[in-house]
Amino acid sequence: MLIAVDGPAASGKGTIAKRLAAHFGLAHLDTGLLYRAVGLKTMGKETHAEFESMAIDAAMGLDTSTLDEEVLSTAEVGIAASRVAQIPEVRKALNRLQRKFMEQPSGAILDGRDIGSRICPQADVKLFITANPETRARRRTEQLLTRGLDVTYVEILKQIEKRDKDDRENPAGAFYQAADAHLLDTSKLSIEAAFQAALGIVERATG
Ligand code: CDP
Repeated sequence: MLIAVDGPAASGKGTIAKRLAAHFGLAHLDTGLLYRAVGLKTMGKETHAEFESMAIDAAMGLDTSTLDEEVLSTAEVGIAASRVAQIPEVRKALNRLQRKFMEQPSGAILDGRDIGSRICPQADVKLFITANPETRARRRTEQLLTRGLDVTYVEILKQIEKRDKDDRENPAGAFYQAADAHLLDTSKLSIEAAFQAALGIVERATG
């Protein structure tokens, strides 16, 4: 079984994907971590003339076994990720890694922005997870505060709104709800309720 989960920052897609993976015994890939890892490698070099080629080299040489979620989860790395995500060759290199991941015999679930539309249009089920920006900012702020990072709701809301805009307008991306994706708005749902709703969609869709 192949499941595609897309949605904007902090919509709950990562948590839902993780739990669906555990429930169905699927391999899980958070594709945002790939963009974040490339973003991290180019941080501070945005004005460098070689910025694009550095990002492309980083994407082509990325070792997915060394992704450190803790280091990659900061808001600043998220912004760097959306910057490198606009470079077509970076997407191409990362797309190759994602397609390879999908070939696992156990089946796979991938979450990101363009999984249902570009990376895995053949997915058995596609979910598009969303929530209003205020709810997403509140969740992300709590998440980062729990990790001991010094952030405020106001700055996180601003960053989320900027990233939403950059991702929507990304000329190299494909951030939209695939026509055959199931929309799930988690604004008023707890994590448990959101997971149960997603599970219900997958079970109905796969019989
Ligand atoms: O975790 P969060 O939802 O904040 O974002 P993420 O999934 O870690 O992705 C970070 C950034 O990488 C996004 O804002 C996108 O710009 C980019 N990205 C992308 O372009 N395509 C993907 N499949 C995944 C992430």
